[in-house]
Amino acid sequence: MKVVEKKQHAKKTEKPKGAKREILKKAAVNCNLPEYENFYNTFSWQDAQKEISYFFGGKVNAAYNAVDRHLHNGRRNKVALYSVDARGHLEKYTFQEIYEAANRLGNALKSLGVKRGDRVFVFLPRIFELYVSTIAIAKIGAIAGPLFSAFGPDALRDRLHNSEATIVITNTDLKDKIDAIRRDLPDLEHVIVIGPKQDLDGAHASRELGEGELDYAQLIEGQSSELICEQMDPEDPLYLLYTSGTTGKPKGVVHVHGDIIGQHMTSKWVLDLKEDDVYWCTADPGWVTGTVYGIFGPWSNGASVVSYEGRFDAASWYKLIDRLKVTVWYTAPTALRMLMKAGDDVVFEHDLGSLRHVLSVGEPLNPEVVRWGMKVFGLPIHDNWWQTETGMQLIANLPCNPLKPGSMGKPLPGVYAAIVDDQGQELDAGELGRLVVKPGWPAMLRRIWRNKDKFDEYFKIPGWYFSGDNAWKDEEGYFWFVGRADDVINTSGHRVGPFEVESALVEHPAVAEAGVIGKPDKERGEIIKAFIVLANGVTMNDNLLNEIKDHTRKTLAAHAYPREIEVKDSLPKTRSGKIMRRLLKAWELGLPTGDVSSLEDD
Ligand code: PRX
Repeated sequence: MKVVEKKQHAKKTEKPKGAKREILKKAAVNCNLPEYENFYNTFSWQDAQKEISYFFGGKVNAAYNAVDRHLHNGRRNKVALYSVDARGHLEKYTFQEIYEAANRLGNALKSLGVKRGDRVFVFLPRIFELYVSTIAIAKIGAIAGPLFSAFGPDALRDRLHNSEATIVITNTDLKDKIDAIRRDLPDLEHVIVIGPKQDLDGAHASRELGEGELDYAQLIEGQSSELICEQMDPEDPLYLLYTSGTTGKPKGVVHVHGDIIGQHMTSKWVLDLKEDDVYWCTADPGWVTGTVYGIFGPWSNGASVVSYEGRFDAASWYKLIDRLKVTVWYTAPTALRMLMKAGDDVVFEHDLGSLRHVLSVGEPLNPEVVRWGMKVFGLPIHDNWWQTETGMQLIANLPCNPLKPGSMGKPLPGVYAAIVDDQGQELDAGELGRLVVKPGWPAMLRRIWRNKDKFDEYFKIPGWYFSGDNAWKDEEGYFWFVGRADDVINTSGHRVGPFEVESALVEHPAVAEAGVIGKPDKERGEIIKAFIVLANGVTMNDNLLNEIKDHTRKTLAAHAYPREIEVKDSLPKTRSGKIMRRLLKAWELGLPTGDVSSLEDD
């Protein structure tokens, strides 16, 4: 679809009315980045190198920066992790304890033959060992592969197979999902299994271990708590995180150790982390926010990080903030909308006075949520924009800038973002176009794992990184999100590829064809809606409907199933046989479908 075609529509319906005029003034006292304009104009990433610990010859390790260096700068006994389990039990771990646990595991992995560049995946809920594993893998120079614990066997197979992972670290609750696909993964040598808590505390319950399976506690027993950190080239891979595109299987985005400079500086500027902060990022490290701003960025700044294993629940969340006296809180619009729906009374039943800075990412943040935040927390919610591919925040509402509710903010120092047309020409303020960024920020994706063509697509407009988002910029340089330029679905801040859901649906014997779109939803941003054609002779009923939803939930992922399914006699297709999702979306939204033959053949 041409930008200009959408421009008319977007200008009429999507540009927030009067948004330019509404500015929430707030005091920018004592923030880490106290002034924007001058700093933006003069900053260069080289200036930030002094904040990062390099080895001789410019070598670096992100994990060394996140953990090891704090043993020599006075933070050795500082709490690095407040780990609260699903039942509310709290454990505290110092930087020294994380260091030692990561070293033991790192040594154990090396004893299994793990080398630099090997892929080691982490399939765990938010528990201590998830953090330890990520650090250990990075320290020995292997590539960490975060996996969201809600993934089902199909999602896991895609990632582990494509990456040729040799090791997965998981626990007894999640292990079955790996067992189910083990025969499809010829490269997977070991599955390291964390037993129930009591196993780790001492006496190991004698559990049956399958072939190629190792017990975590036994594995680290007797391992040295000293490990020489690998000195990596800044361009060596650090983590490999799969994300969804519009077509095909998920793509493995490769990030490198050199990202740490961007992770560190943005955590400092945007999260505004200071020595005494207790910081809670609600994102799971199976998503980029949880890896970058739940582990590397905040720890590199020496912050105390909160990890909560439990599910979303308004009262539990507020209780956690109150209990641990959380000061900086990074969350997502869907969560905030759900909190808003839970009402104000539950907020005021807790003492949230410790909070000083609240942020949100992943989907559009409605201005009314920002205003609600002002009312109940007494603080504006700071929206910011980035992607799995960008590896760090690029556009943000910085504490030192006036905040316009509904806007994602301004580009960070060292980042040049713009709105362009399809030819890469910069557009004027107020015009809708493609959101692009000048390549070269430190955490930019370096590769797509075994898929050069996909990588090249991001840079198809010469001189720009193409984000796949549509947006506009106002006269003061604030960016406003409008929507995806492609069919990628964003449900509750989770990026879902329609193709993956369609593939899971047609695996069900009752489904002959499927076309999947994101349908706007007040709470979740979008929900997944599927249009299906039933197999010959099958008729729909409530049981079958639930069975199909359940099938997708279990095989693909708990968050990626279609909440709505509509049965059709046939689905609109291009001449080459691809389902025209844009037409499905137009039907759903009651928009004119226009001349069908002019729709792009994608
Ligand atoms: O469409 C944009 C949306 O989330 C996409 C990136 O998703 P993911 O790679 O999973 O990373 C999410 C967390 C960094 C973007 O292309 N998105 C991200 N932040 C915002 C947003 N949409 C609107 N407003 C935002 N602040």
